[in-house]
Amino acid sequence: MASIPLVFSNWTQRPLARLIPFGLGAFLFLWAVAYFAWPTHGPHTLPSLELDVSFPPQPLPPGRGGKKWPIRANAVRRAFLHSYDGYKKHAWASDELLPLSNSSVNNFNGWGVTLVDGLDTMWIMGLYREFYETIPVIAKMDFYLDENSFAPFFETVIRYLGGLLSAYALSGEPILLARADDLGRMLSPAFNTSSGLPRFSVNTVTGKTKQAWGDGTALLAEALSCQLEYKYLAHLTGRRDYFHNVDRLMDVIRDANVPGYKFPTIWDYNEGIPANEQFSAGAFADSAYEYLLKQYLLTSKSESKVHDLYLHVANSVIENLLYITPNRRLLYVTDTNNDNPSHKFEHLSCFLPGLLALGAHTLDLPARDAQIHMWAAEGLAYTCWMTYADQPSGLGPDEVNMVPMPKSDENPRGGLWVDHLERWERTRSPVPPGLERVPPLLQGERDYSMRKPGYFLRPEAVESMYLLWRITGDEAWRERGWAVFQALERETKTSSGYASLSSVERTPASKKDEMPSFFMAETLKYLYLLFTDEEIIPLNQWVFNTEAHPLPIFEWSEWEKSEYGIH
Ligand SMILES: *[C@@H]1O[C@H](CO)[C@@H](O)[C@H](O)[C@H]1NC(C)=O
Ligand SMILES: *[C@@H]1O[C@H](CO)[C@@H](O)[C@H](O)[C@H]1NC(C)=O
Repeated sequence: MASIPLVFSNWTQRPLARLIPFGLGAFLFLWAVAYFAWPTHGPHTLPSLELDVSFPPQPLPPGRGGKKWPIRANAVRRAFLHSYDGYKKHAWASDELLPLSNSSVNNFNGWGVTLVDGLDTMWIMGLYREFYETIPVIAKMDFYLDENSFAPFFETVIRYLGGLLSAYALSGEPILLARADDLGRMLSPAFNTSSGLPRFSVNTVTGKTKQAWGDGTALLAEALSCQLEYKYLAHLTGRRDYFHNVDRLMDVIRDANVPGYKFPTIWDYNEGIPANEQFSAGAFADSAYEYLLKQYLLTSKSESKVHDLYLHVANSVIENLLYITPNRRLLYVTDTNNDNPSHKFEHLSCFLPGLLALGAHTLDLPARDAQIHMWAAEGLAYTCWMTYADQPSGLGPDEVNMVPMPKSDENPRGGLWVDHLERWERTRSPVPPGLERVPPLLQGERDYSMRKPGYFLRPEAVESMYLLWRITGDEAWRERGWAVFQALERETKTSSGYASLSSVERTPASKKDEMPSFFMAETLKYLYLLFTDEEIIPLNQWVFNTEAHPLPIFEWSEWEKSEYGIH
């Protein structure tokens, strides 16, 4: 410390050294002149916000991005504020805004799901005023339900519990953890079944539970998408039952010894065994697979049993559920019943490419597996994008029926991707099957027909675009995401928010009077993160739950390992 003034006084005694301050000053002056005069820095060179409507959008040559991406990120932030203002004006503290009639609906327990679901997005976007405005509302939440109402376990966990925990992790506001702990406890009676697989819904006051279908069964996705939230809550509170209730479900599905790891979509929650033969990566199953990989990552790769389950299931999905279409060779994921493919392709399953890419990027896979997972990821995400690019509205339909490739001597299993991949590996033409770039097509010419033509402001396609952009660095994913955002602005915006569409095949599209809370929780968050240059939520430090709520990666302490029995 003391040597600094000494050095300085030595310097100032030398004649040349006395010139240093003047030299520095002149340099700074010249630099400032050059900085502000140089064309890339002046405000006059900011790219305009005109909508570019070329389909598919062309990526910019490298180095031409300039301020384009920050401007686009800010456009998403404005969209969020627009929705928030409408919600505040017309639906404050109700569950969701009805964006056409300017009214509100209580469809998720009536505790204000949009507020809790959107809270971490506010923090990520730097909307601190809005964030702190909602804290007093959340502080007063008592999760009350009258005797005849029941909270759906899965939705309440991923939206409310996940939202509270993520906002707590980002902001450190203690009240958010207190409310998460209350809610986690009030939902726990759902696990009181003989197998431990949770019941469909719970009364948070009486602890009474209810089943959805009346036949003692649970959906795979609903039963197995609570591990991230409850394990993190166990870590924060030291409560063993939070860990135990959700970890034992991993043993239930492992011990069921399902042949070929084709985990079915419906399970008997009394016996803990499969109750149907449908194998799917879409609705009913989707986030169950997501939570295998993600709970492994969340706890710093310390639980090897979930690692192995993820790999087996991911490989089984790739081998059994991936097909290509005959004309554009679009890669898609479908579901099978008793091994018969339906060739249905769901928007919900567009989360899968992001998950496969995340696994290939974070796990120590054999090189060939990692390559196949990445190819599957890029091909599937591209198909999700093409179902948007094909539409006059620029937004993707909820479900389509793919045209199956006919079976032949050459293709005894039709369009099954692994067969085409194997043949390709022998010939090595430039691009693997399902990864060719193809043109958009009009209705009637396409390799699919509409099954559910609506667009419900869902996030899965932009979620995968975000993960693929971060993992591959391919800027084409950002441009595609920007095309999606422009279509959202053009087709779904109302005077008080954004609305689902009843069909993506017409423009202007006809709107439905609904704005699901996941629009502010997920769709706008992933778009914002896709456009910000800064990696606000680094993928090696955070894991997103299935409602896009980031939770921080942590390590179990020695105490927790022995107390919770983790090995
Ligand atoms: C679990 O359910 C049984 C009846 O099925 C009931 O007797 C018991 O009190 C419940 N336990 C908890 C903790 O809710
Ligand atoms: C809904 O509210 C917005 C302001 O939030 C207003 O501009 C619009 O006119 C209202 N629409 C209807 C149908 O009342």
